[in-house]
Amino acid sequence: MSDDSSNALFEPKIIGFLCIWCAYAGADKAGSSQEPYPPNLQIIRVTCSGRVDPQFVLSCFQNGADGVMIMACHPGDCHYKEGNCRALQRQRMLLRILRQFGIEEQRCRLEYISANEGGKFREVVTDTVENLKKLGKLRHALPLDPVLSAAAGNHPASP
Ligand code: FES
Repeated sequence: MSDDSSNALFEPKIIGFLCIWCAYAGADKAGSSQEPYPPNLQIIRVTCSGRVDPQFVLSCFQNGADGVMIMACHPGDCHYKEGNCRALQRQRMLLRILRQFGIEEQRCRLEYISANEGGKFREVVTDTVENLKKLGKLRHALPLDPVLSAAAGNHPASP
């Protein structure tokens, strides 16, 4: 965590992978219902949260993201049956990898948002921005291939 003085002006960069069937429509709903949410989220539309390869997330962190959000259909609502279950399994694996490299779990968040949950969309984005402001800028570098590196037991020395 960085000090409060530097965090006051810090605006985290967040990449959001949003399923087009639910969360993307939820984001649209937030916009049309005039539920403003922080502009820190850069949205990437995906056809299903199960399409989010863990390498996409790691690549975001390697390229300057302070946080990544994966937003999926609620359990039982995935148009491809198990995509959101796979997304949850992958997110758990990602959290283990991030932990090994000293990266806080709060930087990688999975949420279930339906098409009519514009209010929930606004709340989780706002909450994530606030959490990341407290954590500060991501200062830990991920190796080029963190999956292999973690599997080999290599991780950076403690700060
Ligand atoms: S279709 Fe939305 S998470 Fe699979």
